[in-house]
Amino acid sequence: MENQHILKKLSAFTTCQFFSILLKIVDMSKLTANPFKFGDPVQGAYYLDRPELSSLVRQFLNNRIHVVLMGPRRFGKTSFVLNLLTNLEQEGYTCLLIDIFNITSHKDFLNQMLRAIQSKGDFRSKLKTLWRKVGRIAPKVSAEIDPATGTSSIGFTLGQLGEEDVKSAIQDLLEELSGLGEKVIVSLDEFQKISEIDDKGWLEATLRTHMQRLTNVAFLFTGSRKSLISEMLNDPARPLYRSCQTIEFPTFGPEFTDWVMERFAIVGIKCEKQAIVYLRELVQDTPNYVQMVCFHLVAQARSKITYKVVEEVLGTVARQNAYAYQTLLNSLTLGQQRVLRLAANERRSLFQKSMLLKYEISGPSALHSSINALKTKGILDEEGTGKGNVLFDDPLFAYWLRLCFTA
Ligand SMILES: Nc1ncnc2c1ncn2[C@@H]1O[C@H](COP(=O)(O)OP(=O)(O)OP(=O)(O)O)[C@@H](O)[C@H]1O
Ligand SMILES: [Mg+2]
Repeated sequence: MENQHILKKLSAFTTCQFFSILLKIVDMSKLTANPFKFGDPVQGAYYLDRPELSSLVRQFLNNRIHVVLMGPRRFGKTSFVLNLLTNLEQEGYTCLLIDIFNITSHKDFLNQMLRAIQSKGDFRSKLKTLWRKVGRIAPKVSAEIDPATGTSSIGFTLGQLGEEDVKSAIQDLLEELSGLGEKVIVSLDEFQKISEIDDKGWLEATLRTHMQRLTNVAFLFTGSRKSLISEMLNDPARPLYRSCQTIEFPTFGPEFTDWVMERFAIVGIKCEKQAIVYLRELVQDTPNYVQMVCFHLVAQARSKITYKVVEEVLGTVARQNAYAYQTLLNSLTLGQQRVLRLAANERRSLFQKSMLLKYEISGPSALHSSINALKTKGILDEEGTGKGNVLFDDPLFAYWLRLCFTA
């Protein structure tokens, strides 16, 4: 009897102990969970809403005005689109996001379209006719996708498709998009890539035709290469001439600084507001790099966020990339390297005579051609409309250049 009592007590004790240990672990994991994330698109608590941009884009899409969202790399374009499409789906839209960042050919484009469709389970059955069509031209595809149900296995190979087959599959697939729902939004992420395929504008023209023909489909494009996009949309000889409403992806206002400070507060880290304002300036206000530096600051368990620690961490991260940056510099002409130093240190009004002298650039035309070459290489891009205002594709590279070559 007594033994039983002791056993009961013991098991009650161990259960209590077990739960208290469990609670501690949960609590610790809460404490150690880093409130910052970088690299991939973010959602949920890691994402700060952009309500104004969202309602602007919605207005256009609601009225079937195709939109191009144009913003620098790592500014949050994909995160924004993902969040917007999730909300639009809840409101009854049917949405499809196609990522074409890495495409090099029509076959890649087709592959990415199929991939996007495949990721949405319910679309597959809606596209039965399409699978049948694709199946006819590509037997290997039909072997992996059941045309009766539309269900498919994970992979598909377009290996044996000839160029003409690929083109007609793209056309068929675009045609079928209107069958996905009553109101359809199709988003192409990094859409300037279609202009880089050497096809005499075939893909641009095909897209344009379908943008006009599919009356229940609105297109939302995002892109990071401003100069390429401007050429596509503003040249009367190009198929997409004035086909879309362009919106410049805005930088965050002061709410982003407050949000960052709140995120630090979650893990009990004090933060000087000016340190975050300074960090935003150092990284050209790129949310990805703000979150990256903050992530490291939390990981290093800094007790207080000041200017000094922000500079320290940013310097360390930039120096970690030194090998890649050095290799990139070595691939450029000396003139281009000087222009990069100038751009990193000054950023605005680069054509001033005093600047050219200071950075040993022979004249405005040399500067002009170097800037163009650096734009073509995707290292620099235009900023705003002012002549001689440039933006680095990678603000960390600019920071590293400033560390290495102070003027
Ligand atoms: N709304 C946001 N709130 C907070 N952080 C954000 C937000 N949007 C983007 N970020 C930060 O930027 C990072 C990159 O976001 P995302 O991939 O959406 O940008 P992107 O412009 O599509 O980049 P890329 O040019 O590489 O395609 C995220 O991991 C996150 O750290
Ligand atoms: Mg993206």
